[in-house]
Amino acid sequence: MAANELHETAKALVAEGKGILAADESDSTIKKRFDSIGVESTEENRRAYRDLLFTTEGVEEYISGVILFDETIRQASAGGTPFPKLLSSKGIIPGIKVDKGAKALALAEDETVTEGLDGLRGRLEEYRDLGARFTKWRAVITIGTSIPSEYCIWTNAHALARYAALSQEAGLVPIVEPEVLMDGDHSIERSFEVTSRTLHAVFTELRDQRVQPEGMLLKPNMVLSGYSASTQADHEEVAHETMRCFYRHVPAAVPGIVFLSGGQSDEDATANLNAMNAIGPHPWQLSFSYGRALQAPALKAWGGKPENVEAAQRSYYHRAKMNGAARTGMYAPEMEREAVAV
Ligand code: 13P
Repeated sequence: MAANELHETAKALVAEGKGILAADESDSTIKKRFDSIGVESTEENRRAYRDLLFTTEGVEEYISGVILFDETIRQASAGGTPFPKLLSSKGIIPGIKVDKGAKALALAEDETVTEGLDGLRGRLEEYRDLGARFTKWRAVITIGTSIPSEYCIWTNAHALARYAALSQEAGLVPIVEPEVLMDGDHSIERSFEVTSRTLHAVFTELRDQRVQPEGMLLKPNMVLSGYSASTQADHEEVAHETMRCFYRHVPAAVPGIVFLSGGQSDEDATANLNAMNAIGPHPWQLSFSYGRALQAPALKAWGGKPENVEAAQRSYYHRAKMNGAARTGMYAPEMEREAVAV
Protein backbone atom coordinates (compact mmCIF):
# COMPACT_ATOMS: atom_id res chain seq x y z
CA MET A 1 0.00 0.00 0.00
CA ALA A 2 1.20 3.48 -0.79
CA ALA A 3 2.51 5.61 2.06
CA ASN A 4 -0.26 8.01 1.17
CA GLU A 5 -2.97 5.49 2.05
CA LEU A 6 -1.42 4.82 5.45
CA HIS A 7 -1.40 8.56 6.07
CA GLU A 8 -5.06 8.89 5.02
CA THR A 9 -6.13 6.02 7.31
CA ALA A 10 -4.16 7.47 10.24
CA LYS A 11 -5.82 10.86 9.71
CA ALA A 12 -9.29 9.30 9.45
CA LEU A 13 -8.74 7.58 12.81
CA VAL A 14 -8.16 10.97 14.45
CA ALA A 15 -10.84 12.87 12.51
CA GLU A 16 -12.29 15.89 14.29
CA GLY A 17 -14.49 15.03 17.27
CA LYS A 18 -13.80 11.30 17.01
CA GLY A 19 -11.67 8.65 18.69
CA ILE A 20 -11.13 4.91 18.96
CA LEU A 21 -12.90 2.24 21.01
CA ALA A 22 -10.44 -0.37 22.35
CA ALA A 23 -12.51 -3.57 22.45
CA ASP A 24 -9.52 -5.89 22.08
CA GLU A 25 -9.48 -7.39 25.57
CA SER A 26 -7.63 -10.71 25.52
CA ASP A 27 -9.44 -13.81 26.84
CA SER A 28 -7.98 -13.32 30.32
CA THR A 29 -8.79 -9.59 30.44
CA ILE A 30 -12.40 -9.95 29.25
CA LYS A 31 -12.85 -12.71 31.84
CA LYS A 32 -11.77 -10.23 34.52
CA ARG A 33 -14.27 -7.65 33.21
CA PHE A 34 -17.09 -10.25 33.08
CA ASP A 35 -16.20 -11.53 36.57
CA SER A 36 -16.80 -7.99 37.85
CA ILE A 37 -20.45 -8.19 36.71
CA GLY A 38 -20.93 -11.89 37.50
CA VAL A 39 -21.16 -13.04 33.88
CA GLU A 40 -19.49 -16.17 32.59
CA SER A 41 -16.91 -15.56 29.86
CA THR A 42 -18.23 -17.88 27.15
CA GLU A 43 -17.66 -17.29 23.44
CA GLU A 44 -21.34 -16.42 22.98
CA ASN A 45 -21.38 -13.94 25.89
CA ARG A 46 -18.28 -12.23 24.52
CA ARG A 47 -19.90 -12.08 21.08
CA ALA A 48 -23.17 -10.70 22.46
CA TYR A 49 -21.37 -8.02 24.46
CA ARG A 50 -19.26 -6.85 21.52
CA ASP A 51 -22.38 -6.97 19.32
CA LEU A 52 -24.11 -4.58 21.71
CA LEU A 53 -21.24 -2.09 21.46
CA PHE A 54 -20.81 -2.32 17.69
CA THR A 55 -24.53 -1.95 16.87
CA THR A 56 -25.03 1.15 19.05
CA GLU A 57 -26.93 3.53 16.84
CA GLY A 58 -25.29 6.83 15.98
CA VAL A 59 -22.04 6.16 17.84
CA GLU A 60 -20.12 6.54 14.56
CA GLU A 61 -20.50 10.28 15.10
CA TYR A 62 -17.84 9.98 17.82
CA ILE A 63 -16.08 6.68 17.09
CA SER A 64 -13.67 6.48 14.12
CA GLY A 65 -12.29 2.98 14.68
CA VAL A 66 -12.57 -0.11 16.86
CA ILE A 67 -9.69 -2.36 17.95
CA LEU A 68 -10.75 -6.01 17.84
CA PHE A 69 -9.27 -9.18 19.33
CA ASP A 70 -8.41 -12.24 17.20
CA GLU A 71 -11.62 -14.05 18.23
CA THR A 72 -13.80 -10.99 17.62
CA ILE A 73 -12.61 -10.19 14.10
CA ARG A 74 -13.87 -13.67 13.13
CA GLN A 75 -17.28 -13.30 14.83
CA ALA A 76 -20.55 -11.90 13.46
CA SER A 77 -23.48 -9.82 14.63
CA ALA A 78 -26.75 -11.55 15.63
CA GLY A 79 -28.02 -10.88 12.09
CA GLY A 80 -25.06 -12.77 10.61
CA THR A 81 -22.97 -9.82 9.37
CA PRO A 82 -19.27 -10.30 10.19
CA PHE A 83 -18.15 -7.65 12.70
CA PRO A 84 -15.52 -6.04 10.43
CA LYS A 85 -18.16 -5.63 7.69
CA LEU A 86 -20.73 -4.28 10.13
CA LEU A 87 -18.30 -1.65 11.42
CA SER A 88 -17.14 -0.63 7.93
CA SER A 89 -20.76 -0.20 6.83
CA LYS A 90 -21.16 2.41 9.59
CA GLY A 91 -17.98 4.20 8.52
CA ILE A 92 -16.02 2.82 11.50
CA ILE A 93 -12.54 1.47 10.65
CA PRO A 94 -11.82 -2.05 11.98
CA GLY A 95 -8.43 -2.66 13.64
CA ILE A 96 -6.77 -5.59 15.38
CA LYS A 97 -4.54 -6.22 18.39
CA VAL A 98 -1.61 -8.26 17.06
CA ASP A 99 0.71 -8.69 20.04
CA LYS A 100 0.63 -11.86 22.12
CA GLY A 101 0.93 -10.24 25.49
CA ALA A 102 3.59 -9.10 27.95
CA LYS A 103 5.78 -11.97 29.22
CA ALA A 104 8.51 -12.07 31.91
CA LEU A 105 11.70 -10.44 30.62
CA ALA A 106 14.68 -12.79 30.88
CA LEU A 107 17.32 -11.96 33.53
CA ALA A 108 15.16 -9.15 34.92
CA GLU A 109 12.90 -8.91 37.93
CA ASP A 110 9.31 -7.63 37.73
CA GLU A 111 9.70 -6.46 34.13
CA THR A 112 8.10 -7.70 30.91
CA VAL A 113 8.66 -7.75 27.19
CA THR A 114 5.80 -8.06 24.72
CA GLU A 115 5.88 -11.11 22.45
CA GLY A 116 4.29 -11.86 19.08
CA LEU A 117 6.83 -11.09 16.34
CA ASP A 118 7.28 -14.68 15.14
CA GLY A 119 5.00 -15.30 12.15
CA LEU A 120 3.61 -11.77 12.37
CA ARG A 121 4.02 -11.02 8.64
CA GLY A 122 1.65 -13.91 7.77
CA ARG A 123 -0.88 -12.98 10.46
CA LEU A 124 -0.98 -9.37 9.24
CA GLU A 125 -1.81 -10.54 5.76
CA GLU A 126 -4.71 -12.62 7.09
CA TYR A 127 -6.04 -9.73 9.22
CA ARG A 128 -5.98 -7.43 6.22
CA ASP A 129 -8.03 -10.00 4.28
CA LEU A 130 -10.47 -10.11 7.20
CA GLY A 131 -10.98 -6.34 6.87
CA ALA A 132 -8.52 -4.76 9.33
CA ARG A 133 -6.95 -1.46 8.31
CA PHE A 134 -4.91 -0.76 11.43
CA THR A 135 -3.16 -2.71 14.19
CA LYS A 136 -2.11 -2.33 17.83
CA TRP A 137 0.86 -3.60 19.88
CA ARG A 138 1.10 -2.85 23.61
CA ALA A 139 4.36 -2.76 25.57
CA VAL A 140 4.17 -2.48 29.35
CA ILE A 141 6.63 -0.48 31.47
CA THR A 142 6.33 -0.69 35.25
CA ILE A 143 7.51 1.98 37.69
CA GLY A 144 9.17 0.69 40.89
CA THR A 145 12.07 1.61 43.16
CA SER A 146 14.78 0.52 40.73
CA ILE A 147 12.73 -0.13 37.60
CA PRO A 148 12.21 0.36 34.70
CA SER A 149 15.69 -0.64 33.54
CA GLU A 150 17.10 0.75 30.30
CA TYR A 151 17.26 -2.90 29.22
CA CYS A 152 13.46 -3.25 29.57
CA ILE A 153 12.71 0.08 27.88
CA TRP A 154 14.96 -0.54 24.85
CA THR A 155 13.95 -4.18 24.40
CA ASN A 156 10.29 -3.17 24.28
CA ALA A 157 11.02 -0.19 22.02
CA HIS A 158 12.90 -2.43 19.60
CA ALA A 159 9.98 -4.90 19.44
CA LEU A 160 7.47 -2.06 18.98
CA ALA A 161 9.45 -0.76 16.02
CA ARG A 162 9.80 -4.22 14.46
CA TYR A 163 6.04 -4.62 14.73
CA ALA A 164 5.36 -1.12 13.33
CA ALA A 165 7.62 -1.69 10.31
CA LEU A 166 5.92 -5.01 9.50
CA SER A 167 2.52 -3.40 9.90
CA GLN A 168 3.29 -0.53 7.52
CA GLU A 169 4.75 -3.00 5.03
CA ALA A 170 1.40 -4.87 5.14
CA GLY A 171 -0.52 -1.63 4.51
CA LEU A 172 -1.87 -1.44 8.06
CA VAL A 173 -1.48 1.67 10.24
CA PRO A 174 0.40 0.70 13.42
CA ILE A 175 -0.84 2.05 16.74
CA VAL A 176 2.32 2.02 18.80
CA GLU A 177 1.42 1.62 22.48
CA PRO A 178 4.20 1.96 25.06
CA GLU A 179 2.17 2.00 28.29
CA VAL A 180 3.89 3.23 31.43
CA LEU A 181 1.66 1.88 34.19
CA MET A 182 0.41 4.40 36.73
CA ASP A 183 0.06 1.89 39.59
CA GLY A 184 2.10 2.82 42.64
CA ASP A 185 2.72 5.84 44.85
CA HIS A 186 5.15 7.67 42.57
CA SER A 187 4.95 11.40 41.94
CA ILE A 188 3.96 13.04 38.66
CA GLU A 189 7.64 14.04 38.26
CA ARG A 190 8.65 10.37 38.29
CA SER A 191 5.91 9.62 35.80
CA PHE A 192 7.27 12.39 33.56
CA GLU A 193 10.83 11.02 33.79
CA VAL A 194 9.88 7.41 32.93
CA THR A 195 7.50 8.42 30.13
CA SER A 196 10.22 10.66 28.72
CA ARG A 197 12.84 7.86 28.72
CA THR A 198 10.31 5.51 27.14
CA LEU A 199 9.27 7.87 24.34
CA HIS A 200 12.91 8.67 23.60
CA ALA A 201 13.69 4.96 23.08
CA VAL A 202 10.50 4.31 21.09
CA PHE A 203 11.03 7.16 18.60
CA THR A 204 14.74 6.33 18.24
CA GLU A 205 13.90 2.72 17.34
CA LEU A 206 11.03 3.72 15.05
CA ARG A 207 13.33 6.02 13.10
CA ASP A 208 16.17 3.48 12.94
CA GLN A 209 13.75 0.86 11.63
CA ARG A 210 12.39 3.19 8.90
CA VAL A 211 8.86 3.56 10.24
CA GLN A 212 7.12 6.55 8.65
CA PRO A 213 5.77 8.87 11.33
CA GLU A 214 3.02 10.08 8.95
CA GLY A 215 1.56 6.58 8.72
CA MET A 216 1.34 5.67 12.42
CA LEU A 217 -0.41 6.73 15.62
CA LEU A 218 1.01 6.80 19.16
CA LYS A 219 -1.06 5.36 22.01
CA PRO A 220 0.56 6.46 25.26
CA ASN A 221 -0.28 6.88 28.92
CA MET A 222 -0.95 10.36 30.24
CA VAL A 223 1.60 11.74 32.71
CA LEU A 224 -0.24 11.30 36.04
CA SER A 225 0.55 10.94 39.74
CA GLY A 226 0.76 7.26 40.72
CA TYR A 227 -2.76 6.06 41.62
CA SER A 228 -1.83 5.54 45.29
CA ALA A 229 0.30 8.70 45.68
CA SER A 230 -0.87 10.92 48.53
CA THR A 231 -0.75 14.03 46.34
CA GLN A 232 -2.75 13.83 43.11
CA ALA A 233 -2.06 16.29 40.29
CA ASP A 234 -5.22 17.99 39.02
CA HIS A 235 -6.42 18.01 35.39
CA GLU A 236 -4.55 21.23 34.54
CA GLU A 237 -1.22 19.93 35.84
CA VAL A 238 -1.72 16.57 34.11
CA ALA A 239 -2.42 18.40 30.83
CA HIS A 240 0.59 20.65 31.23
CA GLU A 241 3.07 17.91 32.20
CA THR A 242 1.81 15.49 29.55
CA MET A 243 2.18 18.09 26.82
CA ARG A 244 5.63 19.21 28.10
CA CYS A 245 6.78 15.59 27.85
CA PHE A 246 5.29 14.94 24.41
CA TYR A 247 6.58 18.18 22.86
CA ARG A 248 10.08 16.94 23.67
CA HIS A 249 9.73 13.54 22.03
CA VAL A 250 6.92 13.10 19.51
CA PRO A 251 7.62 14.29 15.94
CA ALA A 252 5.07 16.75 14.58
CA ALA A 253 4.76 14.46 11.52
CA VAL A 254 2.81 11.91 13.63
CA PRO A 255 -0.86 12.67 12.79
CA GLY A 256 -2.28 11.81 16.18
CA ILE A 257 -1.80 10.78 19.77
CA VAL A 258 -4.60 8.52 21.01
CA PHE A 259 -4.40 8.11 24.77
CA LEU A 260 -5.21 4.96 26.71
CA SER A 261 -7.25 5.40 29.89
CA GLY A 262 -5.16 2.97 31.94
CA GLY A 263 -7.40 2.62 34.97
CA GLN A 264 -8.43 6.28 35.43
CA SER A 265 -12.11 6.76 36.16
CA ASP A 266 -14.12 7.38 33.00
CA GLU A 267 -14.79 11.02 33.93
CA ASP A 268 -11.13 11.69 34.80
CA ALA A 269 -10.01 10.28 31.47
CA THR A 270 -12.45 12.62 29.70
CA ALA A 271 -11.53 15.67 31.80
CA ASN A 272 -7.78 15.15 31.31
CA LEU A 273 -8.13 14.81 27.54
CA ASN A 274 -10.30 17.91 27.53
CA ALA A 275 -7.73 19.90 29.55
CA MET A 276 -4.99 19.01 27.05
CA ASN A 277 -7.09 20.07 24.08
CA ALA A 278 -8.09 23.26 25.86
CA ILE A 279 -4.43 24.40 25.90
CA GLY A 280 -4.03 23.67 22.17
CA PRO A 281 -3.69 23.85 19.25
CA HIS A 282 -0.97 21.19 19.23
CA PRO A 283 1.09 19.76 16.36
CA TRP A 284 -0.88 16.49 16.50
CA GLN A 285 -4.55 15.61 16.98
CA LEU A 286 -5.06 14.62 20.62
CA SER A 287 -7.65 11.88 20.87
CA PHE A 288 -8.66 8.76 22.78
CA SER A 289 -8.35 5.01 22.35
CA TYR A 290 -10.08 4.04 25.56
CA GLY A 291 -11.05 0.59 26.74
CA ARG A 292 -12.31 0.84 30.29
CA ALA A 293 -13.13 4.56 30.19
CA LEU A 294 -15.54 4.01 27.28
CA GLN A 295 -16.97 0.69 28.40
CA ALA A 296 -17.18 0.59 32.20
CA PRO A 297 -20.68 2.10 32.63
CA ALA A 298 -22.05 0.10 29.68
CA LEU A 299 -20.66 -3.17 31.03
CA LYS A 300 -22.29 -2.49 34.38
CA ALA A 301 -25.62 -1.48 32.84
CA TRP A 302 -25.65 -4.65 30.70
CA GLY A 303 -24.89 -7.18 33.44
CA GLY A 304 -25.23 -9.97 30.89
CA LYS A 305 -29.01 -9.48 30.48
CA PRO A 306 -30.61 -9.08 27.02
CA GLU A 307 -33.27 -6.73 28.47
CA ASN A 308 -30.47 -4.29 29.45
CA VAL A 309 -28.92 -3.98 26.00
CA GLU A 310 -30.55 -0.63 25.25
CA ALA A 311 -29.52 0.89 28.58
CA ALA A 312 -25.96 -0.32 28.02
CA GLN A 313 -25.92 1.18 24.54
CA ARG A 314 -27.12 4.52 25.95
CA SER A 315 -24.25 4.47 28.47
CA TYR A 316 -21.66 3.70 25.81
CA TYR A 317 -23.07 6.35 23.47
CA HIS A 318 -22.93 8.89 26.26
CA ARG A 319 -19.24 8.23 27.07
CA ALA A 320 -18.37 8.35 23.37
CA LYS A 321 -20.16 11.71 23.11
CA MET A 322 -18.39 13.12 26.20
CA ASN A 323 -15.00 12.10 24.83
CA GLY A 324 -15.95 13.53 21.44
CA ALA A 325 -16.53 16.84 23.24
CA ALA A 326 -13.15 16.51 25.01
CA ARG A 327 -11.51 16.36 21.57
CA THR A 328 -12.26 20.06 21.18
CA GLY A 329 -11.79 21.22 24.76
CA MET A 330 -15.55 21.87 24.99
CA TYR A 331 -16.36 19.23 27.61
CA ALA A 332 -17.78 20.33 30.96
CA PRO A 333 -18.71 18.04 33.90
CA GLU A 334 -22.29 19.43 33.82
CA MET A 335 -22.75 17.61 30.52
CA GLU A 336 -22.61 14.32 32.47
CA ARG A 337 -25.67 15.23 34.53
CA GLU A 338 -27.77 16.29 31.55
CA ALA A 339 -27.43 12.88 29.94
CA VAL A 340 -28.43 10.81 32.95
CA ALA A 341 -31.99 12.06 32.55
CA VAL A 342 -32.30 10.59 29.02
P1 13P B 1 -7.69 1.17 28.72
O1 13P B 1 -8.24 2.45 28.14
O2 13P B 1 -8.70 0.40 29.54
O3 13P B 1 -6.36 1.36 29.39
O4 13P B 1 -7.43 0.19 27.49
C1 13P B 1 -6.80 0.68 26.38
C2 13P B 1 -6.00 -0.39 25.79
O5 13P B 1 -6.19 -0.75 24.65
C3 13P B 1 -4.92 -0.99 26.60
O6 13P B 1 -4.12 -1.80 25.77
